[in-house]
Amino acid sequence: MFVILSIILSCMRRLGCRKVADAVLEDIRRRTELFVREGNRAPSIAVILVGEDAASMTYVRKKAEAAASLGFMHFQYSLDADVKESELLTLIDELNERDDVDGILVQLPLPEGIDEDKVIDRISPEKDVDGFTPVNIGRLAIGKDSFVPCTPLGIMKTLSYYGIELSGKNVTVIGRSNIVGKPMALLLMRHGVDATVTVCNTRTKDLRAHTLNADVIIVATGHPGTIDSSYVRDGAVVIDVGVNRVEDSTREKGFRLTGDADYDSFSDRDVSITPVPGGIGLMTVSMLMENTLQAAIRRRGR
Ligand code: GUN
Repeated sequence: MFVILSIILSCMRRLGCRKVADAVLEDIRRRTELFVREGNRAPSIAVILVGEDAASMTYVRKKAEAAASLGFMHFQYSLDADVKESELLTLIDELNERDDVDGILVQLPLPEGIDEDKVIDRISPEKDVDGFTPVNIGRLAIGKDSFVPCTPLGIMKTLSYYGIELSGKNVTVIGRSNIVGKPMALLLMRHGVDATVTVCNTRTKDLRAHTLNADVIIVATGHPGTIDSSYVRDGAVVIDVGVNRVEDSTREKGFRLTGDADYDSFSDRDVSITPVPGGIGLMTVSMLMENTLQAAIRRRGR
C-alpha cells in the first residue's frame, strides 16, 4: 500500500503543449474569420531566411504551415548565405513600406558577417512580430504594450493553461539570450505577474543552489543535460526551451531532438515538465501567429 501510494505521489507530470497550441490556434482562427468577415484582408507575414541552416529551415517551414492553416498570407524570402547585408536591409525597407505585409520575421541566427542587431533594428516596430526590436523590448521592459517575443509569450500561455501560479513564486531562468532569457525575465517581473526572478548564466557559481530554490525553472541554454532531477526540488515545474539535435544512428534522419533538461531523469519525481519535442517549440509558432493577427488588427484598413 505504502509503495503504491508513494509511486502515485512521486509521479512526473508531462506538460505537453500540443493541446495548448491547438487551443491557441483555434482561437486565432476564430478571431481571424471575424476580422476578415468585417471586410479586412487576411493577416500577412513575410519570413526571411538567410542561408540553409537545417534547423532554421525546419522552423521556417513550420511557421509557413501554421500561417497557411489559418488562411494568413505568407511571403517567403530565401536568400543565399553570402547575401550582402545591404541587400537584406533593402528588402526589409521594402517590406516595411508594403501595405500588404503586416508582420516581418528574419529567422535567426544570421550567417557570419551580417550584423544581427543592425538587421533587427531595421524592422519597423509595428511589423516586428518577433518582438525583437529595441523599441519593443524597451516597451516590454517599462511595462508598455508591445509585441512580446514568441517563446516567452508561449511559456506564459503554457503556465496559465496548466494553472501554474506565478505571483510570489521563485522562478529561475537559465540563459540570458535576447530571444528567450531576457524577455522571459521581463515578463515574469511584470506587475500582475509578480514572480521573484533569478537569471543565471554560464558564469553562475552554484547553479544548483538557484534551481533548488525555484518553484519554476525555465531552462534555455541550448545545451542538452544543463539540468537533471538533482537540480529540481519536489513539486517544482520545469519549462524546457531547448531543441537540440543529437546524433542518433537508430533514427531515419540520423538525429533525435532533445531539450536542455535530462527528461528521463525526472520519471520517478514529483515534478511537472514540458517535453521535447511536443513542448514549448509548438507554442513559439502559435504565438507568432497571434502576434501576426495583432499586427494586422493594429494596421487595419491599410
Ligand atoms: N531563432 C530561434 N528562435 C527564433 C525566433 O523565435 N524568431 C526568429 N526570428 N529566429 C529564431
